[in-house]
Amino acid sequence: MENQTLIDNARCLQKEFAWFRQVLEVRFYLYFQQPTEYQHVGEVPPPDLDDDPSLYAKVVQHYQLSLAERLTLLLALAPHLAPQALDLFFTKNSLYDRGYTEFGGLVGQAHSGFLPTAETVLFLLAGDDLEQRLQLLSLFDEDHFFKRHNIVSLVAEKPGEPYLSSALKISQEYLTYFTSGRAYRPTYNTNFPAKRIETELDWNDLVLAPFVLHEVGELKAWIHHHETIRKDWGLGDRIKPGYRALFYGPPGTGKTLTASLLGKSTQLDVYRIDLSQVVSKYIGETEKNLAGIFDQAENKNWILFFDEADALFGKRTSTKDAHDRYANQEVAYLLQRIEDFPGLVILATNLKGNIDDAFARRFQNMIYFPMPDAAQRLQLWQNAFKGKVKLAPEVDLKQLAVEYEISGGGIVNVLRYASLAALRQDRTEIQLRDILQGVRKELRKEGKTG
Ligand SMILES: Nc1ncnc2c1ncn2[C@@H]1O[C@H](COP(=O)(O)OP(=O)(O)OP(=O)(O)O)[C@@H](O)[C@H]1O
Ligand SMILES: [Mg+2]
Repeated sequence: MENQTLIDNARCLQKEFAWFRQVLEVRFYLYFQQPTEYQHVGEVPPPDLDDDPSLYAKVVQHYQLSLAERLTLLLALAPHLAPQALDLFFTKNSLYDRGYTEFGGLVGQAHSGFLPTAETVLFLLAGDDLEQRLQLLSLFDEDHFFKRHNIVSLVAEKPGEPYLSSALKISQEYLTYFTSGRAYRPTYNTNFPAKRIETELDWNDLVLAPFVLHEVGELKAWIHHHETIRKDWGLGDRIKPGYRALFYGPPGTGKTLTASLLGKSTQLDVYRIDLSQVVSKYIGETEKNLAGIFDQAENKNWILFFDEADALFGKRTSTKDAHDRYANQEVAYLLQRIEDFPGLVILATNLKGNIDDAFARRFQNMIYFPMPDAAQRLQLWQNAFKGKVKLAPEVDLKQLAVEYEISGGGIVNVLRYASLAALRQDRTEIQLRDILQGVRKELRKEGKTG
């Protein structure tokens, strides 16, 4: 499967670079007034990608790339995929015995080929036509999707040097995408405080009250049908894009698990952002980092899962000191971005109170995850101990379920505790006392006596 995406990409890019080479040649013919059948580089016919299955072609279709955008993208890819295609730019200006200034470009430290700059883009697309050159500058605007979606950007020029001498750069993300065929998945770091979450469990493992499952079903329905509603049904002008849900309830009741399962079942990546970390740790940096996450998420159809969302409710009203004021500003920014986000955002919190109306109004759905009742606990116990685990005959799961009010997360902790307790005593069988000790530990943690 994956190999096929790679092959598709390679095939498509091969065609694209053949076109690119031809365009470059035509540019040289035109610029140096050599005979050519073309009046303009835009007349060189590009490959038809309409039915091309490659990821590259999908990007071209998705953004409806203009020829200028497509050639810019290829120019940025060239040093990585077809460096020799740029060797024409090493043509010497015999008048001065040096390269042509008008080609722009840089020479790398390790890479011996030609590295394109913004100047190179303008030369390739517009030659020395100043009006066209000025129009093309919009390719490098801050709000062009090249920049906003982190596809192609300019690396800032050296101080005092002209803007157009900035290097043209393809992002690591898109380079990976076009070469390996795999979606680039950034890893957690200070610039990217989000982590992809996954689960080995399936919907069948999820034990929730029917009314909770029903609400969760609405989120699933939204993922499947939102495009239909807005586009096919023509409701795009009345219904805002995006869907915001709040999951609230005690610890260990399945909020994170449900978010992971929503992603797993719809094949969307779920990224978890710990808000308590973001709001306190990255003061000043928060907006920038969050902007990066939102931009990438929008572009790639991720589900955003903001955990510990109470960090938002608390900080909004208090403006005791400078630190809080800052947090407020960032919270306001975050809420705005959440509201504008065209995909699914889930916020999760343990807090029940404190969610004021103004806040609640921003959500399409607020789902309460209650503690499981005895019947649900029995199912959770049974799931926990199913499979190869050996239970001593005296263990009565039904009795455990009825007697101890403990969450799904708590039951998993007991499973871990009891398994280790048995193994530490060289037993292959879990006994009731192993379980009860685990249960007591859990109840103590939750502030209940056991
Ligand atoms: N309703 C449930 N059905 C099945 N398993 C559950 C359920 N709730 C919890 N679990 C088990 O407990 C683990 C922890 O639950 P999860 O992380 O989803 O809880 P949470 O509600 O996000 O808790 P917190 O508020 O502490 O973040 C899950 O990975 C799963 O194994
Ligand atoms: Mg959680």
